[in-house]
Amino acid sequence: AVVSVQQALSGAVAPGSEITVRGWVRTRRDSKAGLSFVNLSDGSCFDPIQVVAPNTLPNYEDEVRHLTSGCAVIATGTLTPSQGQGQAFEVQASRIEVVGWVDDPETYPIQPKPHSLEFLREVAHLRPRTNLFGAITRIRHCLAQAVHRFFHENGFFWINTPIITTSDAEGAGQMFRVSTLDLANLPRDDEGEVDFSRDFFGKEAFLTVSGQLNVEAYCLALSKVYTFGPTFRAENSNTARHLAEFWMIEPEIAFADLNDDANLAEAFLKHLFRTVLDERMDDMKFIVERVEKNAIARLENFLASPFERIDYSEAITLLQKSGKKFEFPVEWGLDLQTEHERWLTEEHVGRPVVVMNYPEQIKAFYMRLNDDGRTVAAMDVLAPGIGEIIGGSQREERLDVLDARMAQFGLDPAQYQWYRDLRRYGTVPHAGFGLGFERLVVYVCGLSNIRDAIPYPRAPGHATF
Ligand code: 4AD
Ligand code: MG
Repeated sequence: AVVSVQQALSGAVAPGSEITVRGWVRTRRDSKAGLSFVNLSDGSCFDPIQVVAPNTLPNYEDEVRHLTSGCAVIATGTLTPSQGQGQAFEVQASRIEVVGWVDDPETYPIQPKPHSLEFLREVAHLRPRTNLFGAITRIRHCLAQAVHRFFHENGFFWINTPIITTSDAEGAGQMFRVSTLDLANLPRDDEGEVDFSRDFFGKEAFLTVSGQLNVEAYCLALSKVYTFGPTFRAENSNTARHLAEFWMIEPEIAFADLNDDANLAEAFLKHLFRTVLDERMDDMKFIVERVEKNAIARLENFLASPFERIDYSEAITLLQKSGKKFEFPVEWGLDLQTEHERWLTEEHVGRPVVVMNYPEQIKAFYMRLNDDGRTVAAMDVLAPGIGEIIGGSQREERLDVLDARMAQFGLDPAQYQWYRDLRRYGTVPHAGFGLGFERLVVYVCGLSNIRDAIPYPRAPGHATF
């Protein structure tokens, strides 16, 4: 039977069975005794399987002894307990079929040795064949499945919010335009402005920066919902933490306040980390060896730590009293920078921190204004080793306050009529948050650059195939 390498190595197949495995050669080693050892990976688990090829195979001299890293092979033989160290089983091959050769093995970019991450970013189409990107890919998948499982088991519905949108969900003006207009020959109105009524949608359209506003509408009908999809930001941040295209998970809960939101964030993150430790220990052990020696310990500590909650105002006081020299100023009314967040969570508290109630002028228009009139019910979840991982808030459910906030931010109410309707027809307190999926992968895998957390990274000046 055709089995995956994972099935063959995990004991799911009885020793002595005749099996067929298919995959790509990692390495080949020939012994003097007339045997070749071919390590074959199909990506189904961290380890490759060793295929032992005797020189009695009809294509041994012509083909098997010419296999190089990257060749695609189908091997049939007997699954046998392994003599060698490290692995329980190997395949004693009776047949090896070479399906795809590697042209010019000398220049094949993926050699069986560690490559630099910078180099691998240039060969994004081949890097999944490395140990590291195989591990990251399986961990990313495991996390995505855990996201859906957590919400499903807790009664949330998955809402597919649109990718093309006409309203700026964050009100921050960082949207990519979607247009079919001819740039060299834009239609103009009488005032010389571009006439978007002649565009595909009859008005200006953009790639979404967040599904939040759309998912709020479903929240105010189905009570517990979430989005999980691609989002886009045209911010010119050429950093190791920002992507122009990233995936975001945004739950939204009705009849809920900021404390409920923080409780949800804590239960959710812990579920995700527990799942990775339960399901992907093989990959996490490699991460510990090659990328971040604390990767597993960090997740275990996270699971064992209740989140600390502090007010933004208190955080400012703590930072000012810390005696620490920060690069960016610490002052009530200014946003926290990564260095401040990391001091709070790593040095001051030593576990995850939820900072709550930020100054209203530095947060989005939809966040609920607190009774003090100068803060909003916003929260950021800070994790040791990374800083902000989640951003969320209780939403402004009062129409008059929302209108005043939109006016303050210079937003056109006409663009948000539908969103205002939600405050006119059965409004309730509700709250939600956003977790950047790649920030999560970066954290779990201990990566230093977010471009290694997504298969094909997009960043300013960088969109290779
Ligand atoms: O803090 P942000 O901008 O919040 C929102 O978009 C809200 N609508 C979320 C909500 O309440 N439903 O983004 C949320 C998270 C951040 O905490 C971060 O993890 C991630 O999205 N993020 C990015 N990840 C990668 N690249 C970027 N350019 C990101 N910008 C935000
Ligand atoms: Mg944020």
